[in-house]
Amino acid sequence: MLKYFFALFALLIVLVVTVAGFRGQKSSKPPIEIFPDMDHQPKVKAQTPSNFYADGRSNRTPVQGTVPLGYAIPQHKPVDGSTGESPSPYKQVKFSGGVSYTDTGKFGDQWGTGLPMETTPEVLARGQERYTISCQVCHGATGAGNGIAGKYGLVAIANLHQQRIRDMADGEIFNTITHGKNSMMGYGDRIQVPDRWAIVAYIRALQKSQGGATMEDVPADQRALLQAQNP
Ligand code: HEC
Repeated sequence: MLKYFFALFALLIVLVVTVAGFRGQKSSKPPIEIFPDMDHQPKVKAQTPSNFYADGRSNRTPVQGTVPLGYAIPQHKPVDGSTGESPSPYKQVKFSGGVSYTDTGKFGDQWGTGLPMETTPEVLARGQERYTISCQVCHGATGAGNGIAGKYGLVAIANLHQQRIRDMADGEIFNTITHGKNSMMGYGDRIQVPDRWAIVAYIRALQKSQGGATMEDVPADQRALLQAQNP
């Protein structure tokens, strides 16, 4: 019985060595893969020929009107046939691209502070609207970090009223919106550049509303009303 086992075992070793070769032996043939695990997939590599397309090129001509990522996109007309104005207040859809302060929040390698546009009531209203759409779920309506996402298990949402963020340069907050921070994802691919600044302006207003605001901040014609409501 044992005799057969040894004979079979020796045969097996010979078989394995024949198929797989000696350990350390070099071969120009691809290795034998018993479970390929989708390691190899047909794909085209840039600038290489491909016989997949009739013209033999792997690179395709971009569809007409294609805009490279990061470039300003011309505002498109409503596709539903309506004549209605586009809801965006901007002439161009702009997500990023440049190296200017407006696009990065930085002067050289320093964070800059100040909005690159005038903070009009329209800008603040736009900021409030965009904040409500994109940030409120996590940071809460007042920015206290108590948005609904916290109730569903998202932890450590920043409270935007903490002194550190009050003291933070506007450019750094702009950058946090663009690229995210730790567990917060970036919104640079879905919030346009001017909207990011409008949100920064609105966050400043929220911060002011939760401490540091004086009667001087209330428009003169509304002070009497406020004093009547809060004697
Ligand atoms: C999905 C949840 C979520 C959304 C939506 C979200 N944030 Fe955050 N945000 C977080 C979390 C979590 C942190 C804390 C990250 C960390 O650990 O530093 C944070 C941190 C921050 C900080 C502080 C960054 C720092 O340097 O400490 C700022 C400012 C901020 N968010 C602004 C925004 C703005 C503005 C928006 C909307 C455009 C937004 N966030 C949307 C979850 C979110």
